[in-house]
Amino acid sequence: MAIRRFPVERIEMGGTSIPPGETVMLCLASANRDPDRYPDPDQFDIFRQDKTHLSLGQGLHYCLGASLARMEIETALATLLRRFPGLGLATRVEELPWRTSVRSRALKALLVTNSQSSYIG
Ligand code: HEM
Repeated sequence: MAIRRFPVERIEMGGTSIPPGETVMLCLASANRDPDRYPDPDQFDIFRQDKTHLSLGQGLHYCLGASLARMEIETALATLLRRFPGLGLATRVEELPWRTSVRSRALKALLVTNSQSSYIG
């Protein structure tokens, strides 16, 4: 979910009329999986041609920490995969434990197996 929005005047959106002062909750995760926008949206595919998404927001309130977040994630994932090249899921995808939260979607835990390890670097 994005930060709440409060229209200052009546707006029409997707066939819905929203009066001024009303609370609007924007679900970015849902927009990222819009089947009218992205083919096969629930499929995790790192080779997608269209890499656009709304996970860091858009426009005026675009995430101020976007560059830092991208650097941190790149470093963390590259280091993890370098140190543990044999990393795999210890459970079936359908059995992953998710937190129950309206605001964000996150795992409670991620149990993994490691068939090979390297502590160099
Ligand atoms: C993977 C990590 C991150 C994600 C997915 C993320 C996502 C987002 C999203 C979606 C927004 C827009 C919210 C909206 O429009 O309502 C946002 C705004 C913002 N983010 Fe991030 N963020 C991340 C990391 C960070 C970091 C590391 C910082 C700071 C060091 C940061 C600081 C901010 C700030 C200050 C805003 C508000 C910008 C504004 O309203 O003008 N974020 N972020």
